[in-house]
Amino acid sequence: MSNIDKNKLPVHIGFIMDGNGRWAQKRGLPRKMGHREGASAFRRIARYCKKIGIKYITFYAFSTENWKRPADEVNELMRLFKEYLDEVEKYAEDKTRLIFLGDKSAFGREMAEKMTQLEESSRDFDEMTLMLAMNYGGRDDIVHAIKRIVSMSDSKEISCSDINESLVSSLLYTGGIPDVDLIIRPSGEKRISNFLIWQSAYAELYFTDTLWPDFTANELDKALADFAERSRRFGGV
Ligand code: IPE
Ligand code: IPE
Ligand code: MG
Repeated sequence: MSNIDKNKLPVHIGFIMDGNGRWAQKRGLPRKMGHREGASAFRRIARYCKKIGIKYITFYAFSTENWKRPADEVNELMRLFKEYLDEVEKYAEDKTRLIFLGDKSAFGREMAEKMTQLEESSRDFDEMTLMLAMNYGGRDDIVHAIKRIVSMSDSKEISCSDINESLVSSLLYTGGIPDVDLIIRPSGEKRISNFLIWQSAYAELYFTDTLWPDFTANELDKALADFAERSRRFGGV
């Protein structure tokens, strides 16, 4: 990382890993080859974020809407997720806390249990927290929190006057994690696509035409330099 003041780095960065399919299509390859390259970019960028001292990173890997894709593409993504889970299980010395955002049950019992196990075994690592949003949707996140609020209310744990923004935040999949400061979306699309919608209320947005498999540390440095120049007012002056 070139010369960015450490105090001006975002605490929490979110990556919308988009453009894998187009990366492959441009080369006349099947879309799944793009996902494989995208998985390498994910590992590369996660490592780099750790190296430069980013505390929290969230990667949007699979949305609640992505189930609509053709079965062989979804299967390849599931295969890549499993491969990653096996890899982190083996290399636990990486000392990264891992959290999965989204309803794990959609991945089947075996995979869901492995995800929970990895969250539990990495719980005390505090150097960096890596969140993988898998079967994640911002709207689903909010609905899930509302259901928990209703059940807390049913059991008289809380009453209406206890419901406030901090309670809602704490019940999201990201409960206890600081809100995202910077969202980076490659691939040229300029939208959020149901990523961290509550948590991004005051996030800075950074868009680039680079496709995710081509996203490099150098490109991230550019986004960080841009972020460091922004004036975040949070509604103040
Ligand atoms: C993002 O790349 C990966 C996932 C949504 C899983 P895409 O597969 O959306 O790539 P494009 O947008 O079709 O190029
Ligand atoms: C967003 O990308 C989801 C992920 C990167 C996991 P999409 O490719 O699904 O988003 P849209 O459909 O272009 O909005
Ligand atoms: Mg896409």
